[in-house]
Amino acid sequence: MSPETVSSPRYVRHGSNAGQPLTRRDGVLKVTGRATYAADNHPEGMLYAVMAGSRIARGRVVSLNVAAAKAHRGVVEVLTPENRPPLAHDPDQKMPPFGFRVEVLQDDTVRYVNQPVAMVIAETLEAATEGATLLDPQYDVEEARTGLESGERFQAEAVGVGAPPRTAYGDIEAGLAQAARVTEVDYVTPAQYHNAMETHAVVAEWDGDHVTLDMPNQAMALSAASYAAYFGIPVENVLIRSPFLGGGFGSKAILNGPQLLAIIAARMLRRPVKLALARTQMFGPVGHRGGTWQKLRIGTDGEGRLTALHHHALAETSTFDEFIEPSASVSLTLYASPAILVEHEGLRLNVGTPGPMRAPGAASGSVALEAAMDEAAEANGMDPLEFRLANYAETEPGTGRPFSSKALRECYAEGAKRFGWSGRPLEPRRMRDENGFLVGWGMGTAFFHCPHFPAEARATLRADGTALVETGGADMGQGAWTALAQIGAEALGLDPEQVEIHSGLSSLPDGGVAGGSAHTASAGLALHNAGEDAIGKLSELATADPASPLFGAGNIGVVARGGRLYRLDDETRGESYAEILTRAGRREVVGTAKAARDPAVTEAYAMFSHGAVFAEVKVDPDLGQVRVSRLVGAFAAGRIINPRLVRSQYYGGMIWGISFALHEEAITDKRTGRIMNADLAGYHVPVNADVPSVEAILIPEEDAHVNPLGVKGVGEIAITGTVGAIANAVWHATGVRVRRFPIHIEDLLVG
Ligand code: MOS
Repeated sequence: MSPETVSSPRYVRHGSNAGQPLTRRDGVLKVTGRATYAADNHPEGMLYAVMAGSRIARGRVVSLNVAAAKAHRGVVEVLTPENRPPLAHDPDQKMPPFGFRVEVLQDDTVRYVNQPVAMVIAETLEAATEGATLLDPQYDVEEARTGLESGERFQAEAVGVGAPPRTAYGDIEAGLAQAARVTEVDYVTPAQYHNAMETHAVVAEWDGDHVTLDMPNQAMALSAASYAAYFGIPVENVLIRSPFLGGGFGSKAILNGPQLLAIIAARMLRRPVKLALARTQMFGPVGHRGGTWQKLRIGTDGEGRLTALHHHALAETSTFDEFIEPSASVSLTLYASPAILVEHEGLRLNVGTPGPMRAPGAASGSVALEAAMDEAAEANGMDPLEFRLANYAETEPGTGRPFSSKALRECYAEGAKRFGWSGRPLEPRRMRDENGFLVGWGMGTAFFHCPHFPAEARATLRADGTALVETGGADMGQGAWTALAQIGAEALGLDPEQVEIHSGLSSLPDGGVAGGSAHTASAGLALHNAGEDAIGKLSELATADPASPLFGAGNIGVVARGGRLYRLDDETRGESYAEILTRAGRREVVGTAKAARDPAVTEAYAMFSHGAVFAEVKVDPDLGQVRVSRLVGAFAAGRIINPRLVRSQYYGGMIWGISFALHEEAITDKRTGRIMNADLAGYHVPVNADVPSVEAILIPEEDAHVNPLGVKGVGEIAITGTVGAIANAVWHATGVRVRRFPIHIEDLLVG
């Protein structure tokens, strides 16, 4: 353990306040419309910006009628490559750690549809919108590269945010050669767009060299540092306010061109500027999950054990940046095999740069792996669950590292029991419901890694017996305000109701990224440590004070519980925090802490949350219509701080799994590169009628290594496993293997 993660041995906590299914603190604000989102801000003198996006996918803008737009009543300025002020950091140069090339009117080249070609700023939204239409861009159009079959392939240097593109253990060809059976299959997953309910927005207000940004943001400290670099100002001069996000899913952790252009405009015009992207503009400049084409070869011996696992992913990216969905990497984790080969290739298309989208890599990769494992189970005449258990990884495949904890067997067992998996016929098309619909059962394994971001926090104990905890993360709907307050309350020996939380401001201690399923663990550990620091300081006041019943207990230690400190050796002797602070003449005592995972722990252990998802589908044999009639997921993710919120994350992930399997895809017109369904009418996601029954089981799991709290992550795991489970259930119902997602009705017109 590094020094900053060690809690002081003198202080002991009792009476956990975490683990309670509290309702979310922001719930009432949201359902009563009092939660203020970025675009709800209207500073004095504010102007409106509207982005003009390209209507072609590849070519050049040869003319813009800037004069017509500027002559329009109310239009104040038109930002184009001609007049866009220079930036202190070259937007073509990526900024580490998660920087992307930012598209801010560098030149007249067009590389994707909806790339910003101008921004119109006006006194009203209407004037800005009208001005943008008057620009009437004329293009030199080149042929767009639009599909997995077109485009230029390349070897990426890294996938995801810095993972190796190729990993090999053992001899894959030897493993395949000695296999009794080889299952060789390929799968295609579509481009998907995050489509958070709240579109990307910003209200930017400059005061000299200081800027205040109301914007939804999942990575405030990193973003503030990036904006500071672009504008050549100290990071302290950037204040990001992001109290609420209407969803993020990864897209609000990455800087993008449109928001940066609005901030540029506000500085240029010396007036506040608001930009809120239109729904259709969400398809291009603010990231997406790139499409993939994945090939798997699975060798099995006579007993159904893997002899080789080869996973190759071709993943789409833009023509000007490198983010590659790390899909094939999923095959490094779940199943034991003497030979594993994982490879990625990039494909350059005329699309906006993809980026992290809920369960990056794992979502798309586990679709292919879990479907392929089902096909391999079938080839071996084995039940899919039995097949997975036969290939259960007791240690991390390839490296042999121990898992920090892995209650996956329990997930399989509990999920199967609850679902009623036993008695499932091996062959497809054996079950019908009372309406004559084909019924199928499928399953998939879920997992997601448990990263940690460095985080900081502050905990203030007040003389009135309440506390304030502060950490600058973001609550995008996952319930961070609530869960983090519970962790703070536990560390402070208080009830959660006595603990106020401040979050969502970049001026607060950096709570790390609200992403990667890491926020509760990262910011939570910082809060935990800050709480212990505050209790330590309070204890010093008491144990050094002859008037305190705790006088002299410093070497023995104290217990913090119910707003009181007690002697560790005699719990009849104690006093309240308020008494200690009041007698010391203090209004408050402030604890601060940083937290990061010890790199030695990251080295020593493979750390993942795990789960098992079971799906039942019903397919209309005449119409091919699929209904997911039941979903049961069992998940083990270490210690659960708030079961209500965690269950909600699992529901959300599983429902997104339904979406991935049956609904969601960006459909591109191959001739123009335009996405034809760039709105929420044509870009399908599940509605309530598509989700009749979804159940999440929380499997108890203790993890002594992942971090001192024992908290893993829950935000992304549940989409993994679910898609494969549904696809496998569709096969079990119909006998048809659909290997291109989402599954369409026309794929299943089988009679
Ligand atoms: Mo997530 S893709 O890290 O918000």
